[in-house]
Amino acid sequence: MALRLGDQAPNFSADTTEGTIDFHQWLGDSWGILFSHPADYTPVCTTELGTVSKLKDQFAERNVKVIAISVDDLESHNGWIKDIDETQNTTMNFPIIADPDRSVATAYDMIHPNADDKMTVRSVFIIGPDKKIKLTLTYPASTGRNFQELLRVVDSLQLTSKHKVATPADWKDGEDCIIVPAVSNDQIPDLFPKGHREVKPYLRYTPQPNK
Ligand code: BEZ
Repeated sequence: MALRLGDQAPNFSADTTEGTIDFHQWLGDSWGILFSHPADYTPVCTTELGTVSKLKDQFAERNVKVIAISVDDLESHNGWIKDIDETQNTTMNFPIIADPDRSVATAYDMIHPNADDKMTVRSVFIIGPDKKIKLTLTYPASTGRNFQELLRVVDSLQLTSKHKVATPADWKDGEDCIIVPAVSNDQIPDLFPKGHREVKPYLRYTPQPNK
């Protein structure tokens, strides 16, 4: 069955381009992003891995570890990394899981046979420090992902895990947030001392509490 939000992220042991890992131990207390690639030596994937490599500092600032996976083997991954470094003007700085027996891809339901019965789709799992799944995304092989959006979601997830707010459409870090409906008006002065504005009784904004 497909993994759902709130489910435990399946643990696994796997060979990666940075050594063998136990996934949960590797995550430690960090947030994690696990994202799959249809295959090595493919053009869109090459750009995605280069892009993520260049965002290393932004993931680190947010205590996020990133890890990629494709069903090819380690030798193939290591050869491909040389191409990624060369063509994307970067140095790969996070691991790629080798999954030739597709055990990880199967555990995370990354192969969608009606799309392609051999390659993984472009799955994304954001995993919290509690090892629970906080976000899932599925893109087709033909569409590269927007990694700025993943950073934006991480900002929202980290904020809303600590404060009783939600983030509105197209929200970006630093912008006003929505007070969750479970908070009564009486609680607002204590919880949100920066103030609030009420547009409707169910639509109440407050400045971002952790800024
Ligand atoms: C790519 O990564 O470029 C790709 C992979 C599979 C199908 C189409 C594109």
